[in-house]
Amino acid sequence: MKKILMVCLGNICRSPVAEGVMRSKIEKYKLDAFVDSAGTAAYHIGEHPDKRSIQNAKKHGVDISKLVARKFEITDFDNFDRIYVMDSSNYSDVIKLAKTEIDKQKVKLLLNDLYPDSNMSVPDPYFGGEQGFENVFILIEKACEEIAQRMHINI
Ligand code: 4NP
Repeated sequence: MKKILMVCLGNICRSPVAEGVMRSKIEKYKLDAFVDSAGTAAYHIGEHPDKRSIQNAKKHGVDISKLVARKFEITDFDNFDRIYVMDSSNYSDVIKLAKTEIDKQKVKLLLNDLYPDSNMSVPDPYFGGEQGFENVFILIEKACEEIAQRMHINI
């Protein structure tokens, strides 16, 4: 089973959407995979996702209302095969905690699977309006579809 971890800063806006969307792709393509999410910061530990993320995902048929935020832990390097980060600051925060080269190689910017070598970030929507959450959803949905299709072919 392939284990995927989605990571952002707070684990309340972007990575819960990525977890919910990836879970729906795992079901759609019947993949032998597991997905979870975490944040690099501790601000929101124990909280459900941001209401705007819940609402926007629901609009697209993805229920993330029951997810609970947790912090990224060093043991996640051992427990996951692939660690997808949403932006470049998540990338450096996670890389700093890596113990080995193998750990480092597990960490990828989510949008690089969709737009190779672009080093694009999923923008943080926390301080913006509703449109930011819709943009985040669209980007994440495209990236997860790409990842799921590739995994499907490689089975
Ligand atoms: P996320 O968004 O990293 O996508 O969950 C944020 C959530 C909270 C904060 C920043 C970004 N914050 O500063 O509390």
